[in-house]
Amino acid sequence: MQIRIENLSFRYLKSNRDNLQKVSCTIEAGERVALIGHNGSGKTTLAKHLNGLLQPQQGRVFIGNHLIAGESTAQCASKVALLFQNPDDQICMRRVYEEVAFGPKNLGHSSSRLHILVKEALTLFDLSHLSESNPYDLGYSERKRLALASITAMDTPILVFDEPTAGLDEREISLFIGAIHNLQAQGKSVIMITHDMDFVAEHIPRAICLKSGAVAYDGLVQNLFNNEELLSSCSLRPPQVFQLSRHLHHTPRALTPEQFVSTLSRSVQ
Ligand SMILES: Nc1ncnc2c1ncn2[C@@H]1O[C@H](COP(=O)(O)OP(=O)(O)OP(=O)(O)O)[C@@H](O)[C@H]1O
Ligand SMILES: [Mg+2]
Repeated sequence: MQIRIENLSFRYLKSNRDNLQKVSCTIEAGERVALIGHNGSGKTTLAKHLNGLLQPQQGRVFIGNHLIAGESTAQCASKVALLFQNPDDQICMRRVYEEVAFGPKNLGHSSSRLHILVKEALTLFDLSHLSESNPYDLGYSERKRLALASITAMDTPILVFDEPTAGLDEREISLFIGAIHNLQAQGKSVIMITHDMDFVAEHIPRAICLKSGAVAYDGLVQNLFNNEELLSSCSLRPPQVFQLSRHLHHTPRALTPEQFVSTLSRSVQ
């Protein structure tokens, strides 16, 4: 399902500047996009406009062919699921199974379908053995995985993850990578807000970069990393492997360690 944002501007009540400034972009069904930018650049504010948590003050947001205007989060929830930056802002039930079931239950899935969705999400994020636990007894990274499982179980065509890998270890990040590949195989769109440029370089082809609430870049990640001036103006640094590749004058520059090794072995031959 397509997302189309047209000239979206927004200012919080207590703010003395526009926190989003004429943001326009289109994200096609099945795309994987990174939403990046410095702290306070407006990433979370933009994400909240995709599921009705915030309403545009100027401009329009379309999900599919449908204009979101005055729609509640509950009305948007069948199309867009949003992972909150902090899992504790999301968790509200007393049992892990119930927490994962909360979203899809509210969307009206039948009880047999609901059970399948919950089981799949628990397995995907390695939480099956904790299904009877109280979420508040879990560690931070387990609660983060629980929040991820809850969002995935909603089975929406669009998923927006706000800092999904923050606080996860390498094994848990690989579970998330498996999940996003799975989602893409089902034709779902994934928007990922992150500060992790290594992750972006390895797993996300397109980046939208916000700077002070405005779109500073929208295009291929490779081209963004090549633009040193823009990157530093957005307080971003490309992955170390990319910087090393630049020092060695590789063309194209490596985005991943695997690409680096393959370029190196070609140049040695
Ligand atoms: N509830 C609020 N009231 C007033 N200003 C806010 C509110 N929430 C966010 N802001 C301001 O809006 C701007 C954008 O904030 P936002 O949280 O969208 O940024 P972000 O890109 O997600 O940052 P981070 O990378 O730190 O999560 C910031 O200047 C922030 O201080
Ligand atoms: Mg944020």
